[in-house]
Amino acid sequence: MSTPLEDLFTVLRFPSVSTDSSRRDDTRACANWLVEKLRRIGLTTNLHETPGHPVVIAQNEHRPDRRTVLIYGHYDVQPAEPLAEWLTPAFEPTLVGDRIMCRGSADNKGQFMAHVCGVEQALKEHGDLPVNLTFLIEGEEEIGSPNLKPFLLANKELLKCDVVAISDTGMVGEGKGTFTYGLRGIACVEVTVRGPGIDLHSGLFGGSVNNPNMALARLLSTFHDPEGKVTVDGFYDAVRPLADWERDAWAKLGDPAAETQRLTGVPQLFGEAGYTDMERRWARPTAEVNGIGGGYQGEGSKTVIPRSAFAKFSFRLVPDQDPDDILAKVEAHLRKQVAPGVKVEIELGHTGQPYLMDPYSPFGQAAQNALEATFGGKPALIREGGSIPIVQAFRDVLGVDTLLLGLALPDCQAHAPNENYPVANFEAGIRLNQHLLRELAK
Ligand code: BES
Ligand code: ZN
Repeated sequence: MSTPLEDLFTVLRFPSVSTDSSRRDDTRACANWLVEKLRRIGLTTNLHETPGHPVVIAQNEHRPDRRTVLIYGHYDVQPAEPLAEWLTPAFEPTLVGDRIMCRGSADNKGQFMAHVCGVEQALKEHGDLPVNLTFLIEGEEEIGSPNLKPFLLANKELLKCDVVAISDTGMVGEGKGTFTYGLRGIACVEVTVRGPGIDLHSGLFGGSVNNPNMALARLLSTFHDPEGKVTVDGFYDAVRPLADWERDAWAKLGDPAAETQRLTGVPQLFGEAGYTDMERRWARPTAEVNGIGGGYQGEGSKTVIPRSAFAKFSFRLVPDQDPDDILAKVEAHLRKQVAPGVKVEIELGHTGQPYLMDPYSPFGQAAQNALEATFGGKPALIREGGSIPIVQAFRDVLGVDTLLLGLALPDCQAHAPNENYPVANFEAGIRLNQHLLRELAK
């Protein structure tokens, strides 16, 4: 018999990096372990194949006289690189003080495993749950959930539910119950600028050919004005302004700008003029370059004109922006910037819709009650800047809202080296699961 913490450590040891094809077997092994675990605790569990990483589904007996709750999580993680910056091994969970250090500890294994262990405990103590429960734990969230919406469409009956609950977001601070009622959406694009057929000696040819690195730099510089506003035509057309009640609720949280500066380590915050730090991150769209490359990257200098350069973009979107509409606008913007002597290739990537719900809906209220019972005090009501691409699809396909009850701390370092998650949050998550299922059953 293993303890909840031992189970979490076991899950954390699988390097289930969904984007890395060399980790495919490890990712599948993680899914297989979950199937076994969920079966052992008494749920009917199956591994469902997709064109990518498999989906784990586990259910108790569904009876017509009670509510049905679907709890979503993702067992895939982001790459651990740069490995040299980890203070402990990236895939060996290590306790440092009260924090579990490991890739995936906060995002998302430590959070969804709290629900698994909460259900295990409730089944052990009471032999039953207050609701019909479905666990859906996928392996492709960190690459945009490309196969999950088709899976929902193909399995509507199996996944039928009254509401979805997810712990894959943050808390505003230690011990502060937090209900997230909005997420930003996302749209990704990769741009390649191609010049000469081969890398050229910059002395022999420099001055007579356009340098793809420079052409790319010019292109990138057309995406924002100096005040940080995105300059793609029509980019803000569909942006829904902040509601008055939100402005009031957020004002009560205090201005996190100083804390944001501390967490990020930047010399000064920078963003769209006219908006606060909170508004910029939770309610305004962005254009970011996540990766950029071209030419010589090694030690010393190398006098070369590279044959190509690339940039990987992602756009964070807010209600009511549509990712496909934004991609079309971005493509039109790129096509307008004709640079002489190079060709621009555009590859449209994955997308996810933004999400917004009424936190005072009956289920929203139930979630808030569960947070209050777990953490004490009224929960903070926030939106988040991150994305969980499938959330709006739950509404579109299954017709239900998603309750986001985050358990990660602001300094959890998700996606970065030294990702961490407090043991206390794992334990609180186990209690939260039990309060939540009871509240949702009412
Ligand atoms: N758990 C995060 C999303 C998140 C984190 C939401 C914190 C709110 C607060 C999730 O695993 C994630 O990282 N999603 C990706 C999705 C993308 C790759 C399509 C993201 O937001 O970058
Ligand atoms: Zn993530």
